[in-house]
Amino acid sequence: MNIQEKNIFVDGAAYVNGEFMPVAEASVPVTDLGFIRSDATYDVVHVWNGRFFRLKDHVDRFLDSCERLRFNLPLSRDQLIDMLHGMVARTGFDKAYVNFTATRGRLAKGSRNPLDCENRVYGFTIPFSWIAPFEEQDAGIAMIVASSERTAIETMDPTIKNFQWGDFTRGMIEASDAGAKVAVHLNHEGNVTEGAGFNAFMLKDDVLWTSETGVLMGITRRTVLEIAERMGVEVKVTKVSENILRSADEIFISSTAGGVIPVRSLDGAPVGGASNARVALDIRDAYWKLHDDSEYSTPVRHDIVQA
Ligand SMILES: Cc1ncc(COP(=O)(O)O)c(C=O)c1O
Repeated sequence: MNIQEKNIFVDGAAYVNGEFMPVAEASVPVTDLGFIRSDATYDVVHVWNGRFFRLKDHVDRFLDSCERLRFNLPLSRDQLIDMLHGMVARTGFDKAYVNFTATRGRLAKGSRNPLDCENRVYGFTIPFSWIAPFEEQDAGIAMIVASSERTAIETMDPTIKNFQWGDFTRGMIEASDAGAKVAVHLNHEGNVTEGAGFNAFMLKDDVLWTSETGVLMGITRRTVLEIAERMGVEVKVTKVSENILRSADEIFISSTAGGVIPVRSLDGAPVGGASNARVALDIRDAYWKLHDDSEYSTPVRHDIVQA
């Protein structure tokens, strides 16, 4: 690839049904049901120091979601992985946010049957994007409990990564109005679920709690659970009441967009006290160390764009 070609990807690269292009040039047909009906699934993996983190797990989750939505993708698993390498290699980014999305696509003429569509695949990569950067993580971020409940799991399966962000968007605006960084949503029973792009963890009396249902099975969440087990922290993956949230010694969130992020305050009140995010920060450090481990990370194949 020559320098001129590389420069067009300076802000990011995208992939739309078979073609790579600069991220600003990528678009979606207005009749794609992904756009007009949120009939889509997506995944986000990151690249850190030139390596994808848990790429196989992200691809597995994405393909499983596609199968459950009864999508027939125009790309095989290997072609999808090549596409992800191809986007990042074009940008040369060392640290990147990499989105891949499948949509239902356009309805066949005269049909209302979602199964009559040609499903589509999109992707884009931009420089790594944080819910909160390292500098803010040490002090911890401010969280509120959103006034909007998370959509019921009987209505929408949260284990399929989805575009149902109406509740999250309301929460994000509420958080912004309150001067907070994030909002966590309860479900209709008052139990903790998740927030816009993250899972939530609570440490209380040395036990780490996270919600078992009503949430995306986050890849960062999985990594946190593995690390906690190795550290000998007792974990409860179960229903988490609002009371556990409000009386926690530590709260933190987990996301591909920023890793493990301690929470300093909840609805304006300080979280915990003595422990001072001790466990959260230990888990965070262990999480970033795994990014060099070849069991967890895969180097970007830059040679994929040489041909
Ligand atoms: C609703 C929701 N929950 C949790 C997460 C965290 O998942 P992961 O750790 O795989 O990024 C995300 C990621 O975007 C999300 O959208």
